[in-house]
Amino acid sequence: MKFIFNDSKNNLVKFVFENESNNPFFDGSKGSVLPLVGEETILLGLGDKDKFCKEKFKEAVYKLGRFLADKDINEVSFEKSDLNLEEKDYVLGLVEALQVSTYNFDHYKSQKCANNLESINLPASLKSYENDVKELLDTLFGQFLARDLINLRSNDIYPETLAKYANDELSDLGVDVKIYEEEQIRDMGLTAYLEVAKGSANKPRFIVMEYLHGDNKPLVYVGKGLTYDSGGYSIKTSEGMKTMNSDMGGSATVIGAMKAIAKNKLKVNVVALVAACENSISGGSYKPGDVIKARNGMTIEVDNTDAEGRITLADAVNYGVTEYKPELIVDLATLTGAVLVALGETYTGAVTNNQEAFEKVMEASKESDEKIWQLPNDDFLRTYNDSKVADIKNSGGRYGGSITAGQFVGAFVEDYPWVHLDIAGTAYLSKSQGLNEVGGTGVHVKTLYHLAKSYSK
Ligand code: BES
Ligand code: MN
Ligand code: ZN
Repeated sequence: MKFIFNDSKNNLVKFVFENESNNPFFDGSKGSVLPLVGEETILLGLGDKDKFCKEKFKEAVYKLGRFLADKDINEVSFEKSDLNLEEKDYVLGLVEALQVSTYNFDHYKSQKCANNLESINLPASLKSYENDVKELLDTLFGQFLARDLINLRSNDIYPETLAKYANDELSDLGVDVKIYEEEQIRDMGLTAYLEVAKGSANKPRFIVMEYLHGDNKPLVYVGKGLTYDSGGYSIKTSEGMKTMNSDMGGSATVIGAMKAIAKNKLKVNVVALVAACENSISGGSYKPGDVIKARNGMTIEVDNTDAEGRITLADAVNYGVTEYKPELIVDLATLTGAVLVALGETYTGAVTNNQEAFEKVMEASKESDEKIWQLPNDDFLRTYNDSKVADIKNSGGRYGGSITAGQFVGAFVEDYPWVHLDIAGTAYLSKSQGLNEVGGTGVHVKTLYHLAKSYSK
C-alpha cells in the first residue's frame, strides 16, 4: 500500500457525523460506509460529533479500510479536512488506520487473503508530513511483527525459534542480538528462570538485544517470553490453556519495538531482554512447594507453578539492572488473569516504583493511543507475597493479584526506576476492539518507540 500526496479525487471520501447526513440511506454512525456510485464518492460515518477525537477518527477510518478490502477497491482519496483535529493527527490517523486495516493473520490458511488496496491519495498540500508518515509506517511494521509472533502457535514459536526471529529481524538493522543457551544462562546466574524452564523439551533461550546508538544511560525493556504456559503442575484448564501461545506477548512487544526503533534509526541506547521458555509438565518440572534461588540471591517459595512469568522476569530484570545500570527499566508481561478482571481487554495495568518514570511512559502511551491505567504499589499489599519458608513467594493469592504480581517483579530491580506493564488483557483480544481483530495486538510497540524517542538525542 502506498500513500501519495497528489490531490487525486478518485473515490473521494467525504466525512459525515451522525444525524448530519442528508442522504436517507446513510446515518453517519461511526464506521458506516456508503459508496455513491456514479459520483465517485464514498461517505464515511464518524459517529457522534460531541465525542469525536483522534481515536474515534481512526476507528472509523479502520472500518473504511476493511470495507474497501472487502469490496476489492484499490484506490481511495482524501481532501484536507475541516474536522476538529490537528493536521498532523489527521494525516497520521488516516495512515495508521488504513495501514492497520490491511493486517490479516492468514499464516495457517491455505487460501491467503488478498488485500488490493494499493493507493491512498492525500492532498499535496500535506506533503510536509511525508517523513512523519514514513516514521509511523516503520513503527507499524514493528507492531505487525509483534502481532505475527503472538499469533503464531507454540509448535512454531518456541524459545529457539523466537530467538531466531529476533535475530533475523533485528541484526541487519544495527541491533546486536545475543542468544544464550542453558549452560550459559546458568553461568549468568539466572537460576530461578531455569527452574521454570526445566520441565520442557524445548530448551530456554535468553535473548539480549542491544541497540546502542545514543548517549543516554540505556533504557532496558524486558518482555515476558513464555512461548507456552500450561500452568505446569498447577495446571490450567483446557480452556484457560488454549490461548497460552500468546504468553510471549511481552517479548513480542519488545522485539517489535526494537524493530521500530532500529528502522527509524533513533539516536538512543535501548536494550531489550527476553527470558524465553516454556512452562511444561514432565518428570523434570519444578513443583508447587519447591524453594528456588534467584539471580540476586533471594529465595523464592513456589506457591503456584502457574505464577511462572514473574519468576522468569525476576531474573531478567535483575540482569537488566545490574548489567546496564539503566535510566529506566520497563517490563511488559501477560502476567495475570486478574488484570482482565480489573481492566478488561482495554487497559494495560501498570505498577511503578517511580512516579516520574511512570509519567514518561504514560506520555508515550497517550501519543500512541495505547491505554494504561496505574495500579497502587501499596506497602500493605506487598506483604501478601511474604513467605514463611523463603524470602518471598511467587503468589500473593487472588486479592490484588495484578498488584502483588507486579510487586514481586519489583523486588528484583534494586532501586532503579521501574515501570511494570501487565498486558494480559491487552496483548491478545478475544473479540475485536478499535483497530484490532481477535488475536495478537502488538500493543505498546508504539509506546516503547515513543518512550525511546523521548530519550534520544
Ligand atoms: N500467563 C498467565 C496469565 C494470563 C491469564 C494471561 C489469562 C493471559 C490470559 C500467568 O502466567 C498466570 O497463569 N497467572 C496466574 C497467577 C496465579 C497463579 C497467581 C493467574 O492469573 O491465574
Ligand atoms: Mn501461568
Ligand atoms: Zn504465564
